[in-house]
Amino acid sequence: MPSLRFPPTLAWHGTLLRLLDQTKLPAEEAYLDVENVAALCDAIKRLVVRGAPAIGCAAAYGVLLAAREARKGAEGCGGSQPVNWAERFNTLCEQLADSRPTAVNLRWAVERCRATALALHKAGKPIDLIEAALETEAQAIHGEDRAMCDAIGTHGASLLPAERATVMTHCNAGALATGGSGTALAVLYAAQARGTKLAVFADETRPLLQGARLTAWELAHAGIDVTVICDNMAASVMRARKPDAVIVGADRIAANGDTANKIGTYGLAILAQHHGVPFYVAAPSSTFDLKLADGSQIPIEERARAEISQPQGTLNVPPNAKVFNPAFDVTPAALIAALVTEKGVLRPPYRESIAKALSA
Ligand code: MRU
Repeated sequence: MPSLRFPPTLAWHGTLLRLLDQTKLPAEEAYLDVENVAALCDAIKRLVVRGAPAIGCAAAYGVLLAAREARKGAEGCGGSQPVNWAERFNTLCEQLADSRPTAVNLRWAVERCRATALALHKAGKPIDLIEAALETEAQAIHGEDRAMCDAIGTHGASLLPAERATVMTHCNAGALATGGSGTALAVLYAAQARGTKLAVFADETRPLLQGARLTAWELAHAGIDVTVICDNMAASVMRARKPDAVIVGADRIAANGDTANKIGTYGLAILAQHHGVPFYVAAPSSTFDLKLADGSQIPIEERARAEISQPQGTLNVPPNAKVFNPAFDVTPAALIAALVTEKGVLRPPYRESIAKALSA
């Protein structure tokens, strides 16, 4: 995997989590230092940090911040023993896990870290030791995410022609969206590393422009040929340029393979089927939610009116018109040619292939 020539999406600095502020890209490379749970929830809600795996990694460090805050609060209200620690800790963990609803990596990371902490608490271990264990757990989640990205890249590259490939993608499923090199974009980095000449069409991804602002920034940094198109150009570009593949990321994948991803993904999958282009979803196992039988049960975040009616402060929609702003849609498994995971390339029927891969 090539070393990516841009700053880390998130970095733990012992007492604070430093986030590359994605709301400011590509105009500015600015950082936000987060030292408590409220600030992290705000950063997740505002998409300072975004993309399912990156939110999961950030939340893992957030659970450590929650433990530290719980200790301070509990110490403040009586004696040297932090009596209300578990109660405060749980409340903060819930706030964190609820900060965005669709990407399952968020709750997955919070629950994994919370379970570590509560098991130690139940065994009567001191708070210092619990905090040390939480730091180790968060770093493990971050490290695992890096490794999963690289494995996804390697597996996914095998789906592309070796010499030259044209790929279409939506939103940003790259290094900016993970703790490592990305999911959909990791496939491109792996293909580039083995010498494939790539041409990428990046949908701008209305309304928050993750494709135009983030994917184009990231791929240009990596020296990959990238062309931004408006979302409504995808059909004609697909017909004219016949991409070898569409590759996207995921926020949550149900047990049957139905996949929630950025709004517009579903339309792209229909277009891909119509034009005979394979549609691939790249995601780590932390994005699968096997408790959900199908995509109809995936909660879809609805975001603020102003993202559509008043982007960058300019009034685009009259105040007396309604606005609907779902941030994600669900692509039926039947439209997905393969799911690219760190465990390998999964093919339909997904209920069987997912269950087998994830239990291995
Ligand atoms: O609202 P966002 O920017 O967090 O949405 C992100 C996406 O939809 C990504 O495609 C998904 O999280 C996968 S990131 C590897």
